[in-house]
Amino acid sequence: MIQARQRRNLLSAFAFFSLSACAGPRTRQPAPQDTPAATSTREADRTRAAISAAATPTAAETPAPTAAGRMVEQVVALPAPRPQGTLSLEEALVKRRSLRAFAEAPLTPAELGQLLWAAQGITHKAGLRTAPSAGALYPLELYAVTREAAYRYRPQGHQLIAHRHGDLRPALHAAGLLQDSILTAPAVFVIAAVYARTERKYGAERTPRYVHLEAGHAAQGLLLQAVALGLGGVPIGAFYDDQVQRALALPADHAPLYLIPVGRPR
Ligand SMILES: Cc1cc2nc3c(=O)[nH]c(=O)nc-3n(C[C@H](O)[C@H](O)[C@H](O)COP(=O)(O)O)c2cc1C
Repeated sequence: MIQARQRRNLLSAFAFFSLSACAGPRTRQPAPQDTPAATSTREADRTRAAISAAATPTAAETPAPTAAGRMVEQVVALPAPRPQGTLSLEEALVKRRSLRAFAEAPLTPAELGQLLWAAQGITHKAGLRTAPSAGALYPLELYAVTREAAYRYRPQGHQLIAHRHGDLRPALHAAGLLQDSILTAPAVFVIAAVYARTERKYGAERTPRYVHLEAGHAAQGLLLQAVALGLGGVPIGAFYDDQVQRALALPADHAPLYLIPVGRPR
């Protein structure tokens, strides 16, 4: 059970999310249906319905209250992902370039959520996601590391789970060969893999190939989504695995594969 002081720390760390994402925006944001492009597309309505149905956590996925009625996990609901944007896929492909210098401005909860969704969001009631997965076994785990904290993404329910309090980017920067992009990006996404999920079906020989291909799918989705949001990022493979694992206090079976700093162009 989380001690009272620990809980208070977590709560203050996540206050910016609870206020803007959970309690809802103070000024009304245009809903997807307000945009002219969305009004006539039944396909978009169906996509939205599928996302919304798929993103609803089942009872089994909802953290159980403790005897005192408190949640054992700090869960942060993200704003619903938007199935439409202003840039075409072709334009995003043309514009994508690795970006390594960022403005200081933090990402909004909507931007964080949209990027995570593009990498691993659920888009089908059967649990299928934005990125393909061998045998639909989904070995990838995503983390978002910001100035305030590190969060783990839970696709079911489109939620963030508080993982560690505080700014872990300097430790990640050291683990990533002191690459400046890791320190200066307002958010560093980490794609990690649980190989055992895929290995159960595909065995030790095929699994590394499949899992690494999947990390590439997820990373590309995230990077293209960044461009579509007016952001940019860089996929980073040069880091010490064990140091990243320690810096983020990752579970032993979450092997880091990619760091992806993302932010606004400076
Ligand atoms: C597997 C992989 C690992 C990479 N690792 C790094 C890295 O550690 N640091 C970095 O700055 N860029 C890294 N990159 C980005 C490449 O340098 C970049 O994609 C390449 O220069 C082409 O430029 P573009 O992405 O703008 O098209 C990596 C790219 C890939 C695909």
